[in-house]
Amino acid sequence: MTELTSDFDGPRLMRGSERSACSRLARLCFGDEASGDEASGDEAGREEPDESVADEPAPRRGGLYLIAYRGQPVSQIGIFHHRLKAPDGLIRVGSVGGVCTHPEFREQRLAGRLLKHCTQQLMLEGARLMLISGDRGLYTRAGCALSGRYLDFDLRPGQLQVETRGLALRALSSADAVRCSQLYQAEGMHFLRRPDDFARALYQPNGYIHADQWMVERDGQAAAYLLLGIPWDAMAAGAPKIRHLSEYAGSRAALAGGLSLALAQHGISQISAPVAWQDADLIALLEQGGGRSQLASLREHTMRIINFSGLMADLGGYVRGRLESKLRRGLRFSQNGSLLAGNDDDRCTIQRGADRLELDTATMTRLVMGDAAGVSFSAPGALAEVIAALFPLPAFFPGLNYQ
Ligand SMILES: CC(C)(COP(=O)(O)OP(=O)(O)OC[C@H]1O[C@@H](n2cnc3c(N)ncnc32)[C@H](O)[C@@H]1OP(=O)(O)O)[C@@H](O)C(=O)NCCC(=O)NCCS
Repeated sequence: MTELTSDFDGPRLMRGSERSACSRLARLCFGDEASGDEASGDEAGREEPDESVADEPAPRRGGLYLIAYRGQPVSQIGIFHHRLKAPDGLIRVGSVGGVCTHPEFREQRLAGRLLKHCTQQLMLEGARLMLISGDRGLYTRAGCALSGRYLDFDLRPGQLQVETRGLALRALSSADAVRCSQLYQAEGMHFLRRPDDFARALYQPNGYIHADQWMVERDGQAAAYLLLGIPWDAMAAGAPKIRHLSEYAGSRAALAGGLSLALAQHGISQISAPVAWQDADLIALLEQGGGRSQLASLREHTMRIINFSGLMADLGGYVRGRLESKLRRGLRFSQNGSLLAGNDDDRCTIQRGADRLELDTATMTRLVMGDAAGVSFSAPGALAEVIAALFPLPAFFPGLNYQ
């Protein structure tokens, strides 16, 4: 990457005085004001500092990183930390969102430069896996991969013949936060959230990301919930009747029935319902009800392992629960130091004694987190047995963590 001229400054954390300029940049890039005056190239030079928050302390971890041109933010990325509860372990996830560059400054690799910086920052702050709500070249060039393994059911009205007796859908509200949290915490793979997180998320008016938020009640009791959004491509194509299941929790029989009831709702013509590969009960119910599916990766997201040894150390209980001690002996997971050095040849290795499997990070991410196609690799000795026992990890849903 060529050096930026001295007119540019960053990548660096947003200053308190830049908060309103950054909000305006996000609104400009994500559409709200793109058709108005703010789309003009002068906008980047016009923002007044917001003195009221000039002394805001820097966040301990995460935050908004930016590149400024002559003192005005022109490209920015937000980073956040989440913890994902996996069976016998906890995955520290570093998330990337709100990636945007002012229209007058695009295609100068500003977002690419910021992403590299933010990836390093997330790793230094303790994240093991980076999750990005996007799948464009910007991310795949940076070693992120479409990952996760799901059976994606393409459901149409009248197609799903499942039991709906006693079931009813009702819109979720923030009053359901505690019950939703209970249902969610019972899921095998879930982010650590508090009822307050649900209350906040469910209070917000529905948008395209969570167009329908339903509790599925059985005989008046809350048995499961379903969050449906409108896929980006359906929005862009002017097809707002298409839905995508972005998160679910609770009784599998209630969920299958709830999906059938959702398909009967006015204004829904199709539901793409990805079900995590390990969710055998829901898959069986939907298949028995006539649902057809195909293997898919996590939609509109990419992932990248950023600390493989740390990830597998955090999943020590998972490894011990799946491998006999003789297979664990001499087993090592490592990642070379390229990420911190700012190079693009980052590689991950699984080693057991003299046997080694070394892959580029994107391929290792697909092997570990799963993907639609499956990863072909040739592992020497007992490594193939080790890998088959451990990977892919159970699939999960970003859902409410990505508003
Ligand atoms: C997406 C966005 C952030 C890109 O910002 P940017 O500063 O122009 O990003 P870069 O210059 O690093 O990359 C832009 C393009 O340059 C080209 N490019 C950059 N680096 C490249 C490389 N090393 N080799 C080849 N092409 C490259 C690519 O065409 C790339 O687009 P792609 O992501 O579709 O592959 C900007 O277009 C934007 O704000 N869009 C609106 C908001 C949005 O959609 N955000 C993303 C949400 S997922």
